[in-house]
Amino acid sequence: MCGIVAYVGQKDAYPILINGLRRLEYRGYDSAGVALLTDQINLYKCRGKVADLEEYIADKNTGGTIGIAHTRWATHGEPNDENAHPHFSRDRDIALIHNGIIENYAVLKKELVSRGYVFQSNTDTEVLVHLIEDIRENENVELDEAVRIALTQVEGTYAIVVISKNHPDSLIAARNGSPLVIGVGEGEYYVASDGAPLVEYTKNVIYLDNEDIAYISLKDDIKIKSINNIERTPYIDQLEMSITQLEKGGFEHFMLKEIYEQPKSIADSMRGRLNVAKEIVSLGGIIEYEEKMLNAPRFTMVACGTSWHACLVGEYIFEELVRIPVEVEYASEFRYRNPIINEKDIVIAISQSGETADTLAAIGLAKENGATVIGICNVVGSSIARATHAGSYTHAGPEIGVASTKAFTAQVTLLLLMALSLAKKKGTISRSRYHEIIIALENIPRQIEEVLSHEKLIKEIADRFSDAKNFLYLGRGYNFPVALEGALKLKEISYIHAEGYPAAEMKHGPIALIDEEMPVVVIATNKGTYDKVVSNIQEVKARKGKIIAIVTKGDETVKSLADYVIEIPETEEMLVPLLATVPLQLLSYHIALNRGCNVDQPRNLAKSVTVE
Ligand code: AGP
Ligand code: GLU
Repeated sequence: MCGIVAYVGQKDAYPILINGLRRLEYRGYDSAGVALLTDQINLYKCRGKVADLEEYIADKNTGGTIGIAHTRWATHGEPNDENAHPHFSRDRDIALIHNGIIENYAVLKKELVSRGYVFQSNTDTEVLVHLIEDIRENENVELDEAVRIALTQVEGTYAIVVISKNHPDSLIAARNGSPLVIGVGEGEYYVASDGAPLVEYTKNVIYLDNEDIAYISLKDDIKIKSINNIERTPYIDQLEMSITQLEKGGFEHFMLKEIYEQPKSIADSMRGRLNVAKEIVSLGGIIEYEEKMLNAPRFTMVACGTSWHACLVGEYIFEELVRIPVEVEYASEFRYRNPIINEKDIVIAISQSGETADTLAAIGLAKENGATVIGICNVVGSSIARATHAGSYTHAGPEIGVASTKAFTAQVTLLLLMALSLAKKKGTISRSRYHEIIIALENIPRQIEEVLSHEKLIKEIADRFSDAKNFLYLGRGYNFPVALEGALKLKEISYIHAEGYPAAEMKHGPIALIDEEMPVVVIATNKGTYDKVVSNIQEVKARKGKIIAIVTKGDETVKSLADYVIEIPETEEMLVPLLATVPLQLLSYHIALNRGCNVDQPRNLAKSVTVE
């Protein structure tokens, strides 16, 4: 979702800010803007991409060694030039950027309007800049204090950065609910929504906590206080990211690069955690909590989108291996429905970005009810990673494509490792079974290479079906979440309507959709309910649907029925999602490409959904 970058130091701020905005483009946005401080604040903003902003600014004054920049993902007010950030105070003395939602903006706005403030935009954000100015003037306080007081009056979520003409060497940054990280350089500071804009300049970072305000000044260093004015010592973390991870490395799109990274990202997720020779599976991050996990009456897994699909795979794995009941919840539903949750419960929250607002709120609710929350996140130092009691990172590396690919397979890998470790301790798995599964797991990266070698065939299938209006994805057992994930991938990047269904449920409704126009993707691998799925394929065929089947290598039965077959190597049933998801990612990628869609930044979507 929206991106924030700010700089104060000795260098020209503009190139750093624009470069930073480009690094944040993957988060999804609809307009962009920048404000640079010289003897006045020069503010430029427009609807569209960062490239449009650059074009607009081309002949303007871009001087200044301090500035703020923003990509906006509209929540209040349509995406247009006026609503883009930064926003000015009335006297043009203060400029502010904001990510999040000011929930009580209407009340505050009414009050400010009655006192003569004229609003230039329809955003919720603009109230904040006028409020700061108003407090500064009426309460006769300095800017830093005015910002603090203003934030005590605000309800909602925010990450903000403020600059002022009267403070030419300072930035004020604050967060509550939306992410913000400070980069500490040599005589210079950066602020950004995540590490991506910082990594080429510094690896020393300070993650802000909720209700933190950072007063950054070249003269006085950096001070962090809470909105209640309590100072804390800033803790410097190291950014675990490299520039090459943030570039396309020869691939046409980040999504394709990330699909191809899966052999490595899965191996990275297992590194140091799976030792086949010694028959050890161990997740350092949760070791202290394993006892508690084993005594839990049930696990509740919460997430959104693709991460929710990983939870569904997790449910099947945990129930089979650990024999503890699992409930899977959409975080957005869980947080508002007064769920029955108590001290004995274990809640597992899964999130690639670690910033999804609903998942964060679900964690908050679970903690309020005394539950222990375990996180599975990809982004190191993210809000969810820090809000949970314990957890494990997926180590898939930065995922830039909005459509999640390598993060999903890494999440499933982590769930497998977690379940194996718990099952062994609980004695719900035999030694031989444990051995079989870890050997199969070790083989997965190599087997994904094999799946990726079918890209040419998958592209041919994509060419055949790129004009389809609808798609149906069917799978059972472990392959049902794969069907859901395949459908989501297609929807989000190609804008073709797609539904994922448990194959047997087809008879209860979706079968009515099937005609000779309808492509039906069936995950029909050779274990579990294979025979039943073959019958489901027959049912589709009898109604002239076009069948694209994902089968186990060497399968002849489905081959004789399907129009197209993509083979994946033989593996344990519970590991099939790790392989079967990959051709579906490639299928949606090629269909989207054929349809001329923006694969990495699909319309309306944001990479991390930091507003509810
Ligand atoms: C996946 O392709 C999506 N873009 C989306 O559903 C995503 O998985 C969801 O927003 C959750 O994000 P998170 O994993 O960062 O919490
Ligand atoms: N709510 C603000 C707006 O609509 C900020 C949106 C964002 O986070 O980009 O302008």
